[in-house]
Amino acid sequence: MDIEVEAYLRPPEMYMPPYPAKVITLATGGKLVIRQVTRDVVPTLLQAVKPTLEVERDYYDIVGARLYAELLGWYRYRVRDEFCLVGQIEGLLVGIVNTRSFSPEVDISLHTLAIERGLRIGAHLFAAKMEYSIEYLGRKEVLITAESPIGFRRWMIEYGLEKRDGQHELGGATPFALTRDLYFRNKDRLVAGERPVPADLMEVAEREIIIASEDDILEKILGAKRRLVQ
Ligand SMILES: CC(C)(COP(=O)(O)OP(=O)(O)OC[C@H]1O[C@@H](n2cnc3c(N)ncnc32)[C@H](O)[C@@H]1OP(=O)(O)O)[C@@H](O)C(=O)NCCC(=O)NCCS
Repeated sequence: MDIEVEAYLRPPEMYMPPYPAKVITLATGGKLVIRQVTRDVVPTLLQAVKPTLEVERDYYDIVGARLYAELLGWYRYRVRDEFCLVGQIEGLLVGIVNTRSFSPEVDISLHTLAIERGLRIGAHLFAAKMEYSIEYLGRKEVLITAESPIGFRRWMIEYGLEKRDGQHELGGATPFALTRDLYFRNKDRLVAGERPVPADLMEVAEREIIIASEDDILEKILGAKRRLVQ
């Protein structure tokens, strides 16, 4: 009986060709490996998201809570057609992005969370998920919204996104579209990375997703402000 019910509870899945990993050399010289992950690593990713749930600054709390639920929903087969990319430096997880495919034409951008700050890691991860939707999945457009002013600056302003009518999946907020045309007009300026990722870097990234301690995560996302408060 439970197995029969499960067949109704699990949404169907669309085939998605894999996202080829890439590496970006950051201003610090650090090598940011961006790669797709499968649902089995979700419990590890949740450990990194959890400390953000109580951080009001820069809207980490709402973004963290929603991302937590989306990743858990994917892990437990309760979200349809979600994909997730992660950013790692020497194995350490520094950011997460996810998207849900609505149809073969349209993807819905869900969340971008940067754990390491000040290096545009969130911007690179967002660009990577747009690259996946447009270039590898062949979508006509991606619908995007922002929960924070930094997000609005990074996506709506930097890409010059087109405002649309209707409601975004995230709380009914105003949707903005990245069309194929807009993507290719912005690509040279905003989408970075080299392929293939050298074997030694890829081996380190795949061997383990290292999660910083809760204190380190809070220190990284709150930075100088946290030191002043203490
Ligand atoms: C939005 C987000 C993904 C952007 O990531 P990013 O591109 O790596 O950018 P950062 O967050 O590091 O920096 C954004 C700005 O804040 C500044 N900043 C704020 N706090 C900082 C900190 N603790 N350390 C360093 N820089 C910080 C940066 O200097 C930068 O300024 P700039 O826009 O002039 O370059 C990231 O800010 C984030 O995860 N925010 C919380 C969740 C969120 O809002 N997600 C997007 C929802 S739409």
